[in-house]
Amino acid sequence: MTNAADVVRLDPSDPAFSADRHAAYRRLRETAPVARTVVNGQDSWLLTGYAEVEKALKSAKNAVQPRPGEFPAHIGAGPAAEFYRFSLPNVDAPAHTRLRKLAAPAFQPRSVKRMRAWVEEIILGGLDELAERDDVVDFVREYAMKIPALIACRLLHAPPQDATTVLERMPGLNAVLSQGDITPEQLAEADATAQFYFDYIGDIVDTMRGKLGDDDPVGALLLAEADGERLSRTELVVTLVGFFVASYHTTMVAMTNAVYALARHQDQYRRLAEDPSLAGAAWEENLRFEAPVHFVWRYAGAGTELSGTPIREGEHLLLGLAAANRDPARFARPDTFDMGRADNRHLAFTAGGHFCLGAPLSRLEGEILLRELPRRLPSLELYADEPPRTTDLTFAMISRLDIAPRGR
Ligand code: HEM
Repeated sequence: MTNAADVVRLDPSDPAFSADRHAAYRRLRETAPVARTVVNGQDSWLLTGYAEVEKALKSAKNAVQPRPGEFPAHIGAGPAAEFYRFSLPNVDAPAHTRLRKLAAPAFQPRSVKRMRAWVEEIILGGLDELAERDDVVDFVREYAMKIPALIACRLLHAPPQDATTVLERMPGLNAVLSQGDITPEQLAEADATAQFYFDYIGDIVDTMRGKLGDDDPVGALLLAEADGERLSRTELVVTLVGFFVASYHTTMVAMTNAVYALARHQDQYRRLAEDPSLAGAAWEENLRFEAPVHFVWRYAGAGTELSGTPIREGEHLLLGLAAANRDPARFARPDTFDMGRADNRHLAFTAGGHFCLGAPLSRLEGEILLRELPRRLPSLELYADEPPRTTDLTFAMISRLDIAPRGR
């Protein structure tokens, strides 16, 4: 039993927590949906109920910086800090409003619709390769890591042959993104990684300047930079590197979770095979059932109160997206994977001003993948019911998923 006054510690290296995070989230939600915690040495409030998390996300008073212009000390003062300080998820209004307005049109459903042909080609090309295999395949390494990398490269006009190398460097940035204490070696690596991406994307934008329209994510930002007032060169490059970072890991995890969930729920897999028009709903249910990003954070604005608990201005809030998505007060039978669910307004993409900009692209990818998966791999089976998982608190993921694409 947990009381609101207890300090809760979520330890991702604890095998019991890692094996069933949802059991821990459930206990908290039932006893203390707004609980004291410590995350990376910082006092925080841990929120696990849908209503509380949604309220914190939607409150315009809350911010992503503790005070305007203040950033965590652990990011240092080099290129990694520059990346952190100008990235959309770490910026508040008015800069956030300006950046978001510039980047948003290229991700509107109308613009994303125009990406369909090449997104489809990449996703289906990967599935065709899997369908040829009659051995054991690690879906994470052989599909989920590759396909989002190819999509991210195509989005940014980077050559597909760079996909593996460019995206393999991504974990180098994690230490600054995770808000925690980091070693000087990790910071040095994060700085080198950030500089690598600045140079890499800097070259691409210089090559593409003048060649793209405003319906293209890179083109829209290049046009804004060109008039000299709306966007600086640093903001341009950081925002585009941010697209790599934001789209790659989340999509890799979501694709892996989808295959795991559907292979374990063969009734749902058959249902999807019989009615491919359910693919979009199946992707949403996958995101609700296992949110790829378990936590985001905010700093409380003045006068915040959550479920009767007064929160002081500037206090850190750790918002449990995966926990909120299994709240029985919001979703009937929350622990059941059910693609027929009505009103599936999950929080995997969050809500409010920082709502995932790439959600329409992710939805397109998910719909294509899940429409074609049962057609191309009708006998798909898992090798292990309990695959290994990484121990990161925020980015919980299956690290290896052995499947038999054509059945065992
Ligand atoms: C299943 C896939 C995805 C999931 C689960 C996901 C989830 C998220 C989450 C949790 C946030 C943080 C929002 C917040 O702090 O309130 C976010 C932000 C963001 N995502 Fe996604 N994302 C996905 C795919 C993508 C893709 C494909 C892109 C394409 C570039 C993208 C671009 C972004 C951007 C630019 C932001 C920052 C938005 C802002 O702060 O205004 N995401 N996403």
